[in-house]
Amino acid sequence: MAIFKKEEKSNIIIPQHVAIIMDGNGRWAKKRGLPRTAGHKKGANNFRTIADYLNKIGVKYMTFYAFSTENWKRSKDEVDTIMALFKDYLEEAFERFHETDMKMNFIGDRSVLRPDLIELMYKIEDVSKDNKGAVVNIAINYGGRQEIVYAAKEIARKVQNGELDPEKIDEDLISAHIYTADQPDPDLIIRPSGEFRLSNFLIWQCAYSEFWYDNVLWPDFSAKDVDRAINDYSSRQRRFGGVK
Ligand code: IPE
Ligand code: IPE
Ligand code: MG
Repeated sequence: MAIFKKEEKSNIIIPQHVAIIMDGNGRWAKKRGLPRTAGHKKGANNFRTIADYLNKIGVKYMTFYAFSTENWKRSKDEVDTIMALFKDYLEEAFERFHETDMKMNFIGDRSVLRPDLIELMYKIEDVSKDNKGAVVNIAINYGGRQEIVYAAKEIARKVQNGELDPEKIDEDLISAHIYTADQPDPDLIIRPSGEFRLSNFLIWQCAYSEFWYDNVLWPDFSAKDVDRAINDYSSRQRRFGGVK
């Protein structure tokens, strides 16, 4: 497992929140003459490796894009495989939650998922809620636009009930009604697989995130690639609209 070389360490800024679009599973499998589902399997294992590594180097919040609100367009076979892999992971995470210090959180509209998955998701969030390590968000049936719709409905309900004055609606209030309320916005968004787009990921939160992409496909994305991304991030000048 890669770890920053000592001499590099002083210049390294560990981002507080890293968000990853786990893309390229299908192409990884195709290159090897395997079914797309084999790529998802390998990709799901890699999620475990990279989450552990980010936790180890001191990243406090991480968000992994696992399944988008648009991914239902794929074949039933592919969607079923992704959900089955997700269930394997949930069962493992529930059985072994005490072996990790990470706090698990699922973002997205879970209401339409299989009831057995929903139940496990709530259980894992509950058993890991007092863990002191990194917060790990898994985005499943997640879409940035859907998240904003969800927040708008929540806010509208409060206005309707007379709990909220519409004049009090500001950026902070909207941030407090999205799935990542109470968490800092991502500092660094990583997209492997060579695509230069967000694909509806964290569109509210990433207003000032730094973007890093690479051609490496997600199943091959390693701790070394995390180091490369963080090295690059450390040399960025973040201005947030100001002057430095
Ligand atoms: C990412 O890999 C996994 C999901 C979107 C669920 P893809 O399945 O999109 O892989 P490519 O982009 O086809 O290679
Ligand atoms: C984004 O990848 C979603 C996930 C990685 C879960 P996609 O493969 O769905 O994105 P597009 O279709 O290339 O934009
Ligand atoms: Mg893709």
